[in-house]
Amino acid sequence: MTESQLSMYGYNSKTEVLDDSEHYWNPDKTRFWQSEGIPLVIGRREGYVLTDIDGHEVIDVHLNGGTYNLGHRNPEIIAALKSALDLVDVGNHHFPTPGRAALAKKLVDLTPGSEKVVFGSSGGEAIDLAIKSARYATGRRKIVSIIKAYHGHTGLAIATGDDRFSCMFNSDDPSNFVHVPFNDIEKMRDALAPDNVAAVIMETVPATYGFPIPSPGYLAAVKQMCEDHGALYIADEVQTGLGRTGKLWGIYDQGVTPDILVTGKGLSGGVYPITAAILGPRAAGWLEEDGFAHMSTFGGSELGCAVAMKVLDITLRESTQRNIAYRIEQFRKGLTDIQRRHPGQLTEIRQNGLVIGLEFGGGGAKPIMSELYRQGVWAIFSTLDPKVLQFKPGLLVTESETAKILEVLEKSMKSVNSYV
Ligand SMILES: Cc1ncc(COP(=O)(O)O)c(C=O)c1O
Repeated sequence: MTESQLSMYGYNSKTEVLDDSEHYWNPDKTRFWQSEGIPLVIGRREGYVLTDIDGHEVIDVHLNGGTYNLGHRNPEIIAALKSALDLVDVGNHHFPTPGRAALAKKLVDLTPGSEKVVFGSSGGEAIDLAIKSARYATGRRKIVSIIKAYHGHTGLAIATGDDRFSCMFNSDDPSNFVHVPFNDIEKMRDALAPDNVAAVIMETVPATYGFPIPSPGYLAAVKQMCEDHGALYIADEVQTGLGRTGKLWGIYDQGVTPDILVTGKGLSGGVYPITAAILGPRAAGWLEEDGFAHMSTFGGSELGCAVAMKVLDITLRESTQRNIAYRIEQFRKGLTDIQRRHPGQLTEIRQNGLVIGLEFGGGGAKPIMSELYRQGVWAIFSTLDPKVLQFKPGLLVTESETAKILEVLEKSMKSVNSYV
C-alpha cells in the first residue's frame, strides 16, 4: 500500500518525498514537523488510524478540525462518492442540479431560522460569502471578530483573524475589521454602539485559540446586541458543527439563532471538498437580486453534494448520536481523572462535547504533542495559544479507542514530566 503510494509518484523512499517537499512545496512547514519530532507522511488511513509511510501508526485526534469526523475513508462515504462518479462529475456551477437542490433543502431544514444556502469549496470561501452577504444585507462594511479569531485565509476571512497571518500579506484592514477580546461583553458593546457594523463573526468555541469556552450567556448577549444595533450574527461552525458538540450545530445550545451559519470541513466526508454558508432571510436577499454575484466553479460540485448528503445521513443516525453521547461522557470522566492525578500539568480541560482543549503548564502543549505522536496518538497544539492541545476525537470513535487515547495521553504526560 505505502509502496504503491510512493511509486505512484516515482519515489523510492520517504526521504525523497521529504526532500522534494522541502525543496518544491513548503520548506518551513516541512522542516517544522521534522523539528517537532512529527515526520509524518501519511500512508494508509482507515477509520481513525493513520499509518505513516514508514509504518508508524497513530490514532487521529486532530481530524483536520473535523474533516474526518466520520473517520478516514468511511466506507459508506466512499461508496456514495463512487456511485456518484458513475453518474455525474463536478457539474456546471451555473445550473440547478438535483444534488444541489436536495442538499440546500436539507441544510435549511436542519438549520432553524435559515432560508437559503450558498455553496463553496473551502471554509474560507464560505466565510467570505457570509461576510459579503452581511454587507449586502446591511449596506455596511465593518466586521467584528474576536482577538485571536481564526476563520480561514481567504480575502475577507483573513482580515477577521490574527495579525500573524494578515499582516504578512498586507491583508490586515483595521478600519473595516475590528477585533475585540473574547468573553468581554463591554468591548463588544463598544464595537457595536456606532450602529455601523455589518456583522459579528464568532466561532461557537474558538478552535485555533485553544477552545476557550464562552461564559454562560455571552454568545446570546452578543446576538442580542447585534439585533439592537442592526448587525448580523455569523456563526462559524466549520469546526464546532456537524455533531461535534453533541448537537448538529453547537450555536443553538447557546440560545442563539444565527443570521448566517457556516459549515465546512466534515461536510466533505474527507473525500470531496464542499462547504456552505447557510443564510437567514436578511442575509439571503442578494440571491433574489443577482444570482451571479458570487461564482465558484467548484462550489457545490455535484460530487460534493452526493458526499455531503451521506455525511448528514450518518451524522444524524441514531447509532451515531448515541455513540457521540457515550464518548462525550467517557472523555469527560477520563480527562477529569487524569487531571486529578496531574493537576499541575493538565491545568485546564475545556470541553463542549467532543470539542476539547487541554491546557498544559510547563512547556505547554507542544512537547505533549510530540510525545503523543511518538506513543501513537496524533493531536495538534493550538496555533494561537500553544499552551493548549486541540483534542478532537471523531464521532464514531469506539469505547476501546477512547480508552487507548486516554491511556496514551497519561503515559505521554508522564514521559514529558520526567524530562522537563
Ligand atoms: C473555524 C474555522 N473557520 C474557517 C476555516 C477555514 O476553512 P478552510 O481551511 O477550509 O478554508 C477554518 C480552517 O481551519 C476554521 O477552523
